[in-house]
Amino acid sequence: MKITVIGTGYVGLVTGTCLAEMGHEVLCLDLDERKIAILKDGGMPIHEPGLLDMVRRNVAADRLRFTTDVAESVEFGVVQFIAVGTPPDEDGSADLQYVLASARNIGRHMNEYKVIVDKSTVPVGTADKVRAAVRDELSSRGLDLEFSVVSNPEFLKEGAAVEDFMRPDRIVIGADDARATSVLRELYAQFTRNHDRIMVMDVRSAELTKYAANSMLATRISFMNELANLADKVGADIEEVRRGIGSDTRIGYDFLYAGCGYGGSCFPKDVQALIRTANESGLQLQVLQAVESANEAQKKVLLDKITARFGKDLSGRKFALWGLAFKPNTDDMRAASSRVLIEGLWQAGASVVAYDPVAMAEAQRIFGDDPRLTYAKTAAAALEGADALVIVTEWKEFRTPNFNLMKSSLKTPLVFDGRNLYNTSHMRERGIEYVAIGRR
Ligand SMILES: NC(=O)c1ccc[n+]([C@@H]2O[C@H](COP(=O)([O-])OP(=O)(O)OC[C@H]3O[C@@H](n4cnc5c(N)ncnc54)[C@H](O)[C@@H]3O)[C@@H](O)[C@H]2O)c1
Repeated sequence: MKITVIGTGYVGLVTGTCLAEMGHEVLCLDLDERKIAILKDGGMPIHEPGLLDMVRRNVAADRLRFTTDVAESVEFGVVQFIAVGTPPDEDGSADLQYVLASARNIGRHMNEYKVIVDKSTVPVGTADKVRAAVRDELSSRGLDLEFSVVSNPEFLKEGAAVEDFMRPDRIVIGADDARATSVLRELYAQFTRNHDRIMVMDVRSAELTKYAANSMLATRISFMNELANLADKVGADIEEVRRGIGSDTRIGYDFLYAGCGYGGSCFPKDVQALIRTANESGLQLQVLQAVESANEAQKKVLLDKITARFGKDLSGRKFALWGLAFKPNTDDMRAASSRVLIEGLWQAGASVVAYDPVAMAEAQRIFGDDPRLTYAKTAAAALEGADALVIVTEWKEFRTPNFNLMKSSLKTPLVFDGRNLYNTSHMRERGIEYVAIGRR
């Protein structure tokens, strides 16, 4: 099948590449010329494990191409995936300008039936807006062509995106017409050979499903973070509590890790957008409002622990920071806890020496050449002469560091761990003061 993917970011590039891997012919469009030039040159604009090899393989097989030419991209695919960003607007609602611009582009150039697929995370009712935008462009061309608009939300996780896309738990298709459903069933047939993973539902339910999934996951995290803060006060250990409740099959172990707050391009904005959608319908989502504000507060927890230990004035102090990305295996720093921490440390007068295996270039892009943030070549090098180590991202390479070196490199043998990586009694035995989240 011929497929166009509009937006070649984390979702679009993975979607296009994985569909090509399954044998489809894919053309990926992006308006960012730099991104397309990198891809055409055989490079990779984002960090996503396993993706570069797959891109190269499919480009070589002539199943995957990249373009900035909108007319060519609309002409190409019978299926047009919209996978552009939906960042938060000032009021927290999803900004649909890129989605609707993509829809208009399709309407401006299409000359035959198209299945337009909303893969971006979009609020309930967006398919209607996409349909209206396409219809509007068609009528200004004096055309009345048939097309379908389908919701097909994406559930991949950055860092494991290729695996998630190739072996999805479920493929949600929100469609109100049989023709589009059958096109998408055919498109995804190779992904569901083992057992049928396709769930067909109405468009609005599909749109809401994506927000419900992310909001549920965010809720589990904020719930555990609040309990961790309580554990700190009452002398309990949140890791013991996690094992204690995770063993209940109704609860399960996943997404119960306390830490210094969730970030990334999805949870924060999707929780906010769902709250906004509800407000527009005259409803208050009280649980999610609390999830959101608990998370905002949790991103400040490490700084609170640091100032509780060193005092509010951190002038002249230098902190080693392990981890910049919002989670391991990605270079994405959108809404990352590290950003809140770095700015908090700066405000208190401190400087930061950071190390991240892949996100340092992204940090440089965000913070520029501010002398209060420097970068170390290795995790160990960041420690030299720092007042303490602060851990914000649970990269595997941070899990078993050389603790003797850590102790001798730091000015004070002190670790603030926002991801609860280490065993508290082992740290005590090693003579390292260990301040984690909700640990005894
Ligand atoms: N990143 C994730 O883990 C993830 C997971 C599931 C769903 N989503 C959702 O998928 C959508 C995309 O997210 P992302 O992280 O891939 O975003 P991204 O910012 O990485 O990529 C979006 C791309 O779209 C391009 N673009 C914008 N307008 C365009 C237009 N009119 N035509 C062509 N290209 C255009 C941008 O240049 C950019 O490269 C969002 O709605 C997001 O919520 C993201």
